[in-house]
Amino acid sequence: MNSPRDTFVLRNGYEIPCIGFGTWQSPNDEKTIDAINVAIDAGYRHIDTAAAYDNEEAVGKAIKGLEIPRSEVFVTSKLWNSERGYDTALKAFDQSLKKLGLDYLDLYLIHWPAARGPEDEWQKTNSETWRAFEKLYKDGYVKAIGVSNFKPHHLEALMSESEIDPMVNQIEMHPGFPETETRDFCDLSGILVEAWSPLGSGRVLDDDRLLEIAANYGVTVAQLCIRWILQNGALPLPKSLTPERIRENADVFGFEISKEDMHKINELEQFGMSGLDPDEVTF
Ligand code: A2P
Repeated sequence: MNSPRDTFVLRNGYEIPCIGFGTWQSPNDEKTIDAINVAIDAGYRHIDTAAAYDNEEAVGKAIKGLEIPRSEVFVTSKLWNSERGYDTALKAFDQSLKKLGLDYLDLYLIHWPAARGPEDEWQKTNSETWRAFEKLYKDGYVKAIGVSNFKPHHLEALMSESEIDPMVNQIEMHPGFPETETRDFCDLSGILVEAWSPLGSGRVLDDDRLLEIAANYGVTVAQLCIRWILQNGALPLPKSLTPERIRENADVFGFEISKEDMHKINELEQFGMSGLDPDEVTF
């Protein structure tokens, strides 16, 4: 890969640009619109939002205002937890589409698995929600469907009932939190892993070991993190509202992390995590 426009190919053949522009905690106003414009100028062609980020209107406005056609920008949104279930998921999807002002999405994700309470109940909830996703996919409203924050046991249960398997699983992943078990499961199942909080939401950026490795390549720790995710075969979703950082985070194709340094980073002890365990979260 040589640019953020280069793609991974999903199991159904649909192409997804290899770095996504994250918008978690980006406001529903001009700041996000401006940031998306900077991102597009810097070469990003993939924008990641969610109903819960409460910025779908701003993301939609930004996309409408671009000089490049809609078909050249990959847009993801996510179903919030309060909208699980077949009918509610279909309605929530309509809402997201309306807020974005679009007539299709490239990717729609279940934001978090139902995972608490009796096993058969949460499994049924996820399967019902997934049935709505399969319908949206078959009806052509969304080009690819997937999940987020699913661990192997959530995926196994979903896939034992599904007609169409998830194409993507978006999870927390950064140096200090490599999520190897979930990634191995996804790799074996043909599910592309996307990484949220690729910079640990900023928490890993002042780590001395990462600073030392980054300095050897003449890059920043943010660039090292993003490149490390790509070299692990996953798709990073860095978020920034700062023009220089937006450009910096897309500029990760002029160096290659050695096998030895990849191993060093893969093996770091856990740090910099959000602390949100999909089996434990109460939202
Ligand atoms: P800001 O949006 O003010 O530029 P993550 O993508 O892991 O969630 O991290 C996002 C956080 O990291 C935001 O607070 C963002 O700040 C900051 N950030 C993004 N890119 C960089 C960078 N290249 N250098 C330093 N901080 C960054």
